[in-house]
Amino acid sequence: MPNIVIVGAQWGDEGKGKVIDIFSKKADLVARYQGGNNAGHTVVIGKDSFILHLIPSGILHKGKSCIIGNGVVVDPKALLEEIKTLESKGIKISGRLLVSRNAHVIFPYHKKLDELREAKKKKIGTTKKGIGPCYADKAARLGIRFVDLLDDEVFKEKLKNNLDEKNDILSKIYGVEGFSFNELYNEYTDYANRLKKYICDTTLVLNDAIKKRRRVLFEGAQGTLLDVDHGTYPFVTSSNATAGGAATGTGVGPTKIDKVIGVVKAYTTRVGEGPFPTEFPKDLMEKIRTKGNEFGATTGRPRRCGWFDSIVVKHSVMVNGIDEIVVTKLDVLDCLGSLKICTAYKFEDKIYKDFPSDIRVLSDCEPMYEELPGWEKDTTGIKSYSCLPKNAKNYLKKIQKILDTKIVLVSVGSDRKQTFSRE
Ligand code: GDP
Ligand code: IMO
Ligand code: MG
Repeated sequence: MPNIVIVGAQWGDEGKGKVIDIFSKKADLVARYQGGNNAGHTVVIGKDSFILHLIPSGILHKGKSCIIGNGVVVDPKALLEEIKTLESKGIKISGRLLVSRNAHVIFPYHKKLDELREAKKKKIGTTKKGIGPCYADKAARLGIRFVDLLDDEVFKEKLKNNLDEKNDILSKIYGVEGFSFNELYNEYTDYANRLKKYICDTTLVLNDAIKKRRRVLFEGAQGTLLDVDHGTYPFVTSSNATAGGAATGTGVGPTKIDKVIGVVKAYTTRVGEGPFPTEFPKDLMEKIRTKGNEFGATTGRPRRCGWFDSIVVKHSVMVNGIDEIVVTKLDVLDCLGSLKICTAYKFEDKIYKDFPSDIRVLSDCEPMYEELPGWEKDTTGIKSYSCLPKNAKNYLKKIQKILDTKIVLVSVGSDRKQTFSRE
């Protein structure tokens, strides 16, 4: 297996955690390249269920090195909690987890600003983890990285500069109290001391490993339609969730990446605000949300559900350069008598067959569907593609044809074992 990027092809929660876990078996290193603890990646192994927020999902395979790359924004408190939770379940972290010294650090003022902005009229529906404000500081060259945190003099100066500005914004714009320098300094110095053993130059580690022909799996968080450049802006996250982010978010050049695999849910979901052309009407929404257990792995919020949107996934195939597809949650559609696939949008008498970035078109368009018969049979126990009901195969074939991209794996349940190859 060469170096592979696994990327979400819709609005996140496609089942990337499960897919990463499966592909980790054949990888030597697994690297997160963007996002932060806004992500929630679920891996189910028999009776055990794990939700990973910052630590790569490869951690559940013994002996794999797991990297938090420079493109990730890290809340050290959340990271320490995640380490503790995994260790309490018998997962070894020490010696296996490496955190980039260039990764930016999330501070309480980032979370506060995220919350306050969300309380305003035009909401994004963020996870309120401080992701947007932390990336904003990174772009504004104000951010504090782990390498800064480890240098007392640099940290003091940067924290002071940041607090001068942030406390001003908090009091003057939002009328709330700011943060104390001493408290934050002590809290974050303690985090730095506890995380020191994990922090290193992960770019060197990854490139060295690739030179030695060790295999790297790049774990995307969020999904293509939440990408800050290619998603439904402004209703997106603040990073490049697309495959290109794997290069910038780890320092591994694009020529070293061999393959991109897209994870595609058999229908569509999104959490938070923003346009969603194929969103179900209320009854169907309830039915699929319940059957698919569509509640956020990070915030517990109910996910919005809708029909498969091929305009969205075609866009994903293009902007990520997706070579192969894994289809997840096919079993959730077992309960439907007929299925719809969106193949075009209609807006003001114009037909769109390519993804429109105009938010007005996306919000007000009428989706045009092709209808297919359902299979109404339980697929959760199926072990091979050939045993799938005929109509389920037809549904997958239709998707494959529209996307002009090979489906290589199909998932029919949350467990590691409920997966089979397309061949
Ligand atoms: P991620 O963020 O892309 O890793 O996905 P999440 O973990 O947030 O959400 C996917 C949810 O679907 C998790 O609860 C998984 O355990 C579950 N899941 C994954 N694959 C399947 C599948 O094929 N069928 C069913 N029913 N559940 C699945
Ligand atoms: P995984 O990796 C689904 C959504 C939020 C919100 C928008 C911006 O589990 O697929 P943010 O807190 O990032 O500023 O919120 O992005 N969002 C996700 N939706 N899955 C995720 O991650 C998400 N991470 C962020 O709901 O709409
Ligand atoms: Mg998730």
